[in-house]
Amino acid sequence: MIAANLAEPDDFEVWREEARRLVQQGVPPQEVAWSGVDDTGAGSDLFAAAAPAVVPSLASGGVRASRAFMDLAKSAILHSDPQRLPLLYRLLWRLQDNPRLLDDAADTDVLAVERLAKQVRRDIHKMHAFVRFRSVREDDGQERYVAWFEPDHRIERATADFFVGRFANQRWSILTPRLSLHWDGTALLEGPAGSRADTPGEDATEELWLGYYRSIFNPARLKVGAMLKEMPRKYWKNLPEARQIHDLIAGAQKREASMIATGASLFADAAPRSLAEIANGISECRRCAIGCNGTRAVMGEGPGDATLMIVGEQPGDNEEREGHPFIGPAGQVLDQAMHEAGIDRGTAYVTNAVKHFKFAPRGKLRLHQNPTAGEIDTCRWWLDAERTLVKPKVILALGASGARGLLGRTPAIGRERGQALTGPDGTQVWLTAHPSYLLRLEGAAKEREHQKFAADLAGLARMLDEG
Ligand code: URA
Repeated sequence: MIAANLAEPDDFEVWREEARRLVQQGVPPQEVAWSGVDDTGAGSDLFAAAAPAVVPSLASGGVRASRAFMDLAKSAILHSDPQRLPLLYRLLWRLQDNPRLLDDAADTDVLAVERLAKQVRRDIHKMHAFVRFRSVREDDGQERYVAWFEPDHRIERATADFFVGRFANQRWSILTPRLSLHWDGTALLEGPAGSRADTPGEDATEELWLGYYRSIFNPARLKVGAMLKEMPRKYWKNLPEARQIHDLIAGAQKREASMIATGASLFADAAPRSLAEIANGISECRRCAIGCNGTRAVMGEGPGDATLMIVGEQPGDNEEREGHPFIGPAGQVLDQAMHEAGIDRGTAYVTNAVKHFKFAPRGKLRLHQNPTAGEIDTCRWWLDAERTLVKPKVILALGASGARGLLGRTPAIGRERGQALTGPDGTQVWLTAHPSYLLRLEGAAKEREHQKFAADLAGLARMLDEG
């Protein structure tokens, strides 16, 4: 037996190095004892680390692992199932002889890893949605927001970026039974496990949640089964608003009747259930100044189950007049480059980070203006809704605004373009320049940037081909 010791059993990079080494040394799965498997670390010294017998074909070659496998493994390793590490290694081992193994939808190892990854992704989604902060005043008089959450899996670190992005300017702590995360506005620290008793009692923030929930609760759409699926009972004890559920359900019919009588919008603020609802919603949206400028909102277009989603900044002059995304000059640059890369635009869902056209009037002209970060962040509600419904595997972000809409931060395009980044919900985000930028350039710079753009799309095409 070979002992594979992982100091942190959810550290994907460490697992990857260890697994790579073992495959290279030709150690078959049945000869590896993964420590950390039972989360106690016990057992790690029970196995003698004898030098493994090396299988020459594997020892000499590189280790094969498709991106699809890596993505699955990154999620699955966070599962609390003690068998996840041996299972992942067995799959990696088998992939060496059968690189298309993941395509075998009936394979029990493939099914098992996919199930683990799915449960982890769901847990992450629930943590994003159901962490509730309460405020405490610290010794220096500043406020800190503290939350208690009990995830099913080892997802705390994997969700940290999301909370840092969402609450970058606040001090906050999230306590869990396994560890605690603390953000002071500049650095993220990890601390020991917390307990529910460490979180403060009810306060004004809680009132906000209660008010928010009351306002989004739409009796006309009440479906108790679906609600329980989305907000399982086990989370209720830490959700202040859940205390209202019984009363709200009880009063639902009355409220529905009164909503119909008063003509109130049935969809106000509840997450849209279809792309058609989003199209309706954005046309009425007045949450930011751009939405209030009276222009036509432009909805995303393309197959509702597209593998590839493309996200630009906002509709331009032509797009606003015609009501379709990317049909003006920037759209033509995009179409041409996609065609050259062999990506069929008709298979992609094309949309924008901001749904209305922001411009400054100059006589008869409407000059494009960049949306602010705040406007993009406000409009993310709609982009998230599109993403949740379409469920793309890969998203192409065009320019910094598109990327901010997806990532919740403004990336440096020059440094991060042409590679797969991971969005807050785990989707792959492929970043490149905005085609309008290419249109503004001249001469050699234009030629150079066109080539870079083409190379980024070629990389994306390869990634799509690899599945
Ligand atoms: N630019 C964008 O970002 N989106 C469009 O739809 C058109 C131009």
